[in-house]
Amino acid sequence: MTVRTVLKMGHPLLLQRAAEVDAFDTPLLHALLQDMRDTMTQLNGAGLAAPQIGVSLRVVIFGFDANERYPDAPPVPLTVLINPELSPLDEQMEEGWEGCLSVPGMRGLVPRHARLRYRGFDAQGQLIDRSVEGFHARVVQHEVDHLDGILYPFRIPDLRQFGFSETLFPGQLLVDD
Ligand code: NI
Repeated sequence: MTVRTVLKMGHPLLLQRAAEVDAFDTPLLHALLQDMRDTMTQLNGAGLAAPQIGVSLRVVIFGFDANERYPDAPPVPLTVLINPELSPLDEQMEEGWEGCLSVPGMRGLVPRHARLRYRGFDAQGQLIDRSVEGFHARVVQHEVDHLDGILYPFRIPDLRQFGFSETLFPGQLLVDD
């Protein structure tokens, strides 16, 4: 069990484009994924991208069960997604509140594609191909943005809709992704 330090906004590595993974099912990749799972679980995250723990590779994990920490969100299957590609299924955008382990204690209102198809690979190199919507689609877009050096505050169109979680949503238990 290794909980790694999560880099915070301001760290230059979070602004880089991460590199493609070119070898699957390796001890190195499995060790990275184990650290990512441990870190996400420990910090109650909904997702985590490898650059957030200082590894500039195109690897994300996300997913959670329905529980009291996500009162309005349906469960999202725990997913390892490597070298992902996203394609929106239509033009429709949807606004939603986001947080991020690299921007702790904050929330912002971010427009995302409401429906999209994502493709990528799991740890063994097996193809993943899913069409999703709603919160699942949002989480994937947030995590894949990390691989391109984009943090959610960069996508907030109205910065008046950006602030501290405890002030915006007093008394609520919120998670970061
Ligand atoms: Ni994030």
